[in-house]
Formats: sequence, structure tokens, C-alpha cells
Amino acid sequence: MLNLDLVESVLSNYKECYGEAAKTVYFSPGRVNLIGEHIDYNNGSVLPVAIDVGNYAAIGESKDQYFRFFTDKFKQEYQLSLADLETREYKPAGEWTDYIQATLLELLEAGIKLKPFYASIGSDLPGGAGLSSSASLELLIATTALAVADAELPELELAKLGQVVENKYIGVQSGLMDQLAIALGKEGEALLYNLANHGYRHFPLNLAEARILVIDSHKRRSLRESKYNERREECQRIADLLFAEGLIDSEKRPRYEEGTGLALLDPEKIAEANILLQEYYPEEASILSRRLEHVITENSRVYEFLQAVDGADLKRAGEVLNASHASLAKNYEVTGKEMDSLATACQAEPEVYGARICGAGFGGVVIALVSENFDQSMLNRILQNYHEATGYRAEAYFVNSTNGPSRID
Ligand code: GLA
Repeated sequence: MLNLDLVESVLSNYKECYGEAAKTVYFSPGRVNLIGEHIDYNNGSVLPVAIDVGNYAAIGESKDQYFRFFTDKFKQEYQLSLADLETREYKPAGEWTDYIQATLLELLEAGIKLKPFYASIGSDLPGGAGLSSSASLELLIATTALAVADAELPELELAKLGQVVENKYIGVQSGLMDQLAIALGKEGEALLYNLANHGYRHFPLNLAEARILVIDSHKRRSLRESKYNERREECQRIADLLFAEGLIDSEKRPRYEEGTGLALLDPEKIAEANILLQEYYPEEASILSRRLEHVITENSRVYEFLQAVDGADLKRAGEVLNASHASLAKNYEVTGKEMDSLATACQAEPEVYGARICGAGFGGVVIALVSENFDQSMLNRILQNYHEATGYRAEAYFVNSTNGPSRID
């Protein structure tokens, strides 16, 4: 469901800022990932859903060859002239505006003849929460800039453009999942995307009587400052070794920007891979083996989850979610005390089938698959247990699946 208050607010802010009514409003969703965590940049499969919390922009004509972006959140206007952009020089400010500048620069790189516009932006998507607020903003800017320029890019190109913004400008070596989830979002459906061959299918988000609850831990993190890039680098080293030693077919090796290729390892070869890690990296072998274990088992869990949901076996689906969290905690080490307590508090409730951290980790949200009997008293118990264990106050809400970035008026 669209947030009509926010639509009204971006429209009235637009009028106040620029002295006339906006022409159109665009919405770009956030995403939750049901399962398949930290395997997009390893060329595994993921199962995300675009959700109805996101970024909104009221748009109108530019009067002065400047792009102007007002956001209510930061009570700030950001301006950028077309002439400045055309120098192709990136001038980062270390703020949200970097995503805008980088997206516009990449559109120019893609050969799009940009036309300036004015915008007023509003969001109900928390930042740093694992719900892809940055990918949502990149795709909002790209979609509106393309529409104003009367140009188009296929969804995959749009998603890749957002990934380049993260990798080349922001400095996060993230994969393609978030941007794909958003660009290919469909109401009522989840997206199964295979990052080894770019095959994908939409699945009706049919969880029988169960629902997905999002619980925001209110512990924030920034991927730039997290160990995200370190994890990618560890996987890269493992993959380099396994390709060099012929454990993964070198013909299948992706280019660096496309991922490490680690998820292509045949699960039956894990023992052999571990021997090689012991031989080449004796001091780090135990850590690297755990990273590998996560990547390979998480990739299988995506299909186990789908199979369980397909057979309406929610108990099994929940177990798979719990196993994903356990592996992200123990093998991949991207959860931490707060997220572990929140997941544990959820998992302890009988009407919760399963729960796991969602997104990059290090803070953010937990998603829980809950039964139709799940009620407020159970939720209160979870929030209370989490508060007692960590001092943080979490907040929970149900989200709905939605379409990708689009004009909404
Ligand atoms: C972040 C990244 C994605 C993905 C997830 C973890 O959201 O942007 O590319 O790696 O973390 O699954």
C-alpha cells in the first residue's frame, strides 16, 4: 500500500520549495531478502521481494539548468548543474547526495542525454537497516531521470547501474541483489534470481497462512564501515584458489565485477576445498572454511526453502530460515549480539516458524515467518526479551510485496 501521507508531503514540500505544483510522483521500493544472504556476489541464487516501504519523489521542470533535490528527512536542498555533471568529475560529500550525484554521472556514462529537473524526496524506509534504502534511492533517481530525458534502460542495466554506484563511487563491493529485487519487483511475487547465469523467475508469494514480519532492531550500521568488503575479499581469495586448482571449472569464471564464482563449487567438493585451504592458508584456514561452508550451504537453502513453501511445509521453511541465521552467525560472522538476541527471541515463540537476519547484517532487521495465530502479546514478549538483552527498543511491522520503481499518479 502506498503511503498517502508521504505522497502528500512530497507534493506540498515541492510546492513550498519551488513555488509551483509538481508534475508527477514516483515511488521506488525497498526490499527484504527471504533467503540467500551474502551469496549474490558469489554468483549464487537469491530470493528477495520488493516491499511497499521506499522512497518517493515529486518531480517537476527545472527553470535554470540545475537539478535540485529537496529532502524532508535532512531538511536540505541539494543542487547540481548540468554543466558541472558534464565535466564527469565526481565530488563526494560523504552524504546521501553522493548516491544522487553518482547515479546521474553513471547515466551520462551510459550515453543518456540528461535533462535537469526539480524533485522533493520523502522516505518511509529506514536507512542502514538492511532494507536497501540506498539501492531504492539509486533506482528512484535513475527512473525519474530517464523518464524526464524520455529515455529507457532495460531492468538489468538499471540494476547494474545502481551496483556500479555502490562499487565505484560509494566504495561498497556489494552484489547485484538489492537493485535486481527493486528493478524487477512485482506485486504478490518473490524473485528467484540466479546470479551465475542471470536466469530468473517470479514466484507467487504464497506462504499459505503464514506472513512475513519485519522487526527493526534499531541497531544501525553503515556498509562502508562494516566488514562487508572484507567478507567479499575473503570469498574472492577462496574462489581464486579453487579456480586455480581446478576445483571449479575455470571456463565458468565470472569477471571480478560480476562476482567471485564461489557458489559454483560442487557441494561434494567442500572437503577437497578445505584441504587446499589448509595447505595454502594454514593460519586462516578455519575462518576461510567457515566462509565457504556458509556460501555453499546458503545457496542450497534457497532451494530447500522454496521446496518447503511449495509443499506448504511451513515448519520446514522456518527451520531453513533458522539454519540461515545460524550460519550467518557462526560461519559468516555478520550478525553480532543484538541481531542474535532478536532472532533468538523470535525463534523461541511457538507461533514463529523461523527467523533470520536479513540483508548485509551487522545490525538492521530480522525477518520472521509467523503463523496466523501470532498476536500482539507474542510480539510484545519478543520486543521485551530483546530490550532486556540489549537495551535497544525494536519496532515491528508487516510489509507487502510491490512493483518496481514507477510513476504513481
Ligand atoms: C547487501 C548488498 C547485497 C547483498 C546483501 C547480503 O544488501 O547490497 O548485494 O550482498 O547485502 O546478502
